[in-house]
Amino acid sequence: MGDVPLFASSLEPYHDRLVQAIERVARSGAYILGPEVEAFEREFADYLGVKHCVGVANGTDALTIALRALGVGPGDEVVMPSFTFYATAEATIVAGATPVFCDIDLDSFCVTPETVKAVMTSRTKAIVPVHLFGNVAPVPELRELGVPVLEDAAQAAGAKLDGVKAGALGDAATFSFFPSKNLPCLGDGGAITTNDDDVAELARVLRFHGSQDKTTFIEVGYNSRLDAMQAAALRVLLPELDGWNESRRAVAAAYERLGMAEHAALPSAAGGSRHIYHLYVVRSPHELPLGRGYYRVPVHRQPAIGSDVALPVTEEAARTNYALPMGKDLTEEQVAEVVAACASGST
Ligand SMILES: Cc1ncc(COP(=O)(O)O)c(C=O)c1O
Repeated sequence: MGDVPLFASSLEPYHDRLVQAIERVARSGAYILGPEVEAFEREFADYLGVKHCVGVANGTDALTIALRALGVGPGDEVVMPSFTFYATAEATIVAGATPVFCDIDLDSFCVTPETVKAVMTSRTKAIVPVHLFGNVAPVPELRELGVPVLEDAAQAAGAKLDGVKAGALGDAATFSFFPSKNLPCLGDGGAITTNDDDVAELARVLRFHGSQDKTTFIEVGYNSRLDAMQAAALRVLLPELDGWNESRRAVAAAYERLGMAEHAALPSAAGGSRHIYHLYVVRSPHELPLGRGYYRVPVHRQPAIGSDVALPVTEEAARTNYALPMGKDLTEEQVAEVVAACASGST
């Protein structure tokens, strides 16, 4: 039982091709931005069906830079879930703005137009829905609320809503390529996507010390570039993403077929969403064997934030969620083992 991994995705079959790609970069002498990064930016933008992709150093910087590129700054409020990774709020504070936390829908673990609307004020400058665990938040409805929507798509590379990819739904979107993500690189990496020429241009300036030409500095920006080795690795792995996500969806289907619903509330795709199961997160009032609870202390109650806002659904999700083993390489036999362990209550 103990040998079913929580994250069952290996890059081993791609090692040779990754090494070749890295060798190509090492021999090229172009290590920061350059042709590999430009090629990946074009390929990822085309994959998502969006006009621009701006590669940055990680998914946290992607959020800070994208918020600033959307015009968010000091004095502004940004509405977001508290049931997310800490970086969503952290990046907002680094951008000079104030995170305002809203509740979520318990079944999808995502924000809804109603939960967002309940906390909007005249100072709300943007909404950051998080496509949590690979589900997709209802971005088209959120856009009707009248302020820019920045998708935090860190956990949702390849997910779709009504046929449109996460990352192409909002005014802009951000991705993380941290190694555990559905589209990983070999270290830290991230990206901003948008259809807006001005947002893309400002994001490009901000990632490079606020400069267009390395000589004149028109913004106080960041040193936050995707490096060429990571871009080369991502170019090897991007063509595999859809197949990997299909494998993850097959694992989710196996959990259903093999009776996991008898032991926990299963994850449900938000309306119209094609879930890609970055994590397979169920809910249960009691501890599940091999399960790992996520975000047990939601962001609003973290010491650095310290908000006492009441978010009852967030609290329930934080208390009762368990991520079960998931990954492109998980076998049906391993899924059966997890279900059997939950049935017997063994750990
Ligand atoms: C929802 C969410 N937002 C932002 C991030 C930050 O990404 P990174 O670790 O690449 O900075 C992550 C991942 O770690 C995440 O899961």
